[in-house]
Amino acid sequence: MSSSKQRFLSGIKRAPGAAVAPLSAWPVETKRVGDTGRGNTRNPFDLTDRIALVTGAARGIGRAVAERLAIQGAHIIVTDINDKGSADTQSIIEKAGGKAETMHFDVTDQAQIDKVCAAVLAKHGRIDILINNAGICLNATALDTTKDIWDRQMRINLDAVFYCSRTFGEAMVKRGAGAIVNLSSMAAIIDVHPQDHVGYSVSKAGVAHLSKVLGSEWADTGVRVNAIGPGFVATDMPLAAGIEMLEIWKTQIPMNRFLQPYEVANTIAFLVSDAASAITGQLIIADGGVTIW
Ligand SMILES: NC(=O)c1ccc[n+]([C@@H]2O[C@H](COP(=O)([O-])OP(=O)(O)OC[C@H]3O[C@@H](n4cnc5c(N)ncnc54)[C@H](O)[C@@H]3O)[C@@H](O)[C@H]2O)c1
Repeated sequence: MSSSKQRFLSGIKRAPGAAVAPLSAWPVETKRVGDTGRGNTRNPFDLTDRIALVTGAARGIGRAVAERLAIQGAHIIVTDINDKGSADTQSIIEKAGGKAETMHFDVTDQAQIDKVCAAVLAKHGRIDILINNAGICLNATALDTTKDIWDRQMRINLDAVFYCSRTFGEAMVKRGAGAIVNLSSMAAIIDVHPQDHVGYSVSKAGVAHLSKVLGSEWADTGVRVNAIGPGFVATDMPLAAGIEMLEIWKTQIPMNRFLQPYEVANTIAFLVSDAASAITGQLIIADGGVTIW
């Protein structure tokens, strides 16, 4: 028997030779089946009346996530530093019959994290879903990555994900329910070649590992934390790398096309729903197959 197995078994207090209860007799913790205790419902993907906050939701993937979660029934708190974009996202959601409000929110400012979290709890009494989506991509080789580039990259992409998860996560843990999805990237597990963005890749690897550790720490609290690692998604972010880069990337995608923001949003909607009640601490890659080559 391995020493690690011996260590675990030594923690079990049972008289030698005592009968082991059959699995069917083990207590079923119904409150822990799904985030809200809804259990085996007809539609575990349903998010009716969940309070969901999405960061960086003024455009791109964040907007698509906000739209998708609203279609599933959630009330969306659309947040961004771009207030006009947030207002547009809110209007798109409402025109489709969904529920949304906007809040100005710079995720790099702890005072704003505290303020937004307090406002959400005061108005809604809880936070069910947090999507840490806001991010930037600064392209530079390692030798060209200045302290300012590195610090900005980490502050938005990694530090903010931790501080937002910590603040909103505390309210979720206290209540014993919640789901967080953090935007990582396939760049967390490969060097996206030939783009040069060491800071971006490392920040996204950090997000994936942070999600694993938070998933572990909160595993028995009813709060799940996962990361999603998209490949090349057709938003303004990859466009900034230039048209030549887009042409090179296309040859690297087995599905031979860029992903659409809604495809990432659909996966996220699954991860925050009760359909994913057994999934925590994972990095789910959605990349059109890039990382299988
Ligand atoms: N597009 C892709 O190919 C791709 C691939 C993998 C991962 N991602 C990740 O998905 C997320 C969204 O990417 P996108 O392509 O939609 O990007 P985007 O640039 O289109 O949108 C990012 C949004 O974040 C907001 N934002 C930036 N700094 C902020 C701050 N300090 N506080 C609050 N909001 C802020 C912006 O205003 C913008 O609305 C990012 O974390 C990105 O790294 C994107």
